Amino acid sequence: MDDSKRKFINICLGGVAALAATAFAAVTYPLFRYYLVPPTDKNSGGKTSVPLNEIALGDAKFFEFNGVAAVLVRKQDGSLAALSAVCPHLGCIVQWEKDRQDFLCPCHAGYFTADGAVISGPPPRALAKIPYTLANGVVTIG
Ligand code: FES
Repeated sequence: MDDSKRKFINICLGGVAALAATAFAAVTYPLFRYYLVPPTDKNSGGKTSVPLNEIALGDAKFFEFNGVAAVLVRKQDGSLAALSAVCPHLGCIVQWEKDRQDFLCPCHAGYFTADGAVISGPPPRALAKIPYTLANGVVTIG
């Protein structure tokens, strides 16, 4: 085999090796990230703050808390409720119905009060409550 053929074969083998290394990295890196590096969340184990003036009386504000959908309700009497927005039936996200002042789970028509108690439908229990504090016009959740 002459030198030019040998050089050509070496270049081809180098290209194949580089391609294989790239494919290997493309497959293993996501697996490494998923299984070995714990997920991070800016709210993980922490608290979320919501200025009270961001929520009108009778309205609700949805946000993510520890990686899960949550909601803060400012009821028409001015009292507050911080709740998980995850329906305890099959995990759909509830919706605030401002005109009715309750929550609807759109998946199977589960209804909850503004405090998260079950009104009707298949949910087996209330929306989970999240502790909060109110100080200087800021609600701190968690
Ligand atoms: S998931 Fe909410 S009622 Fe079924």
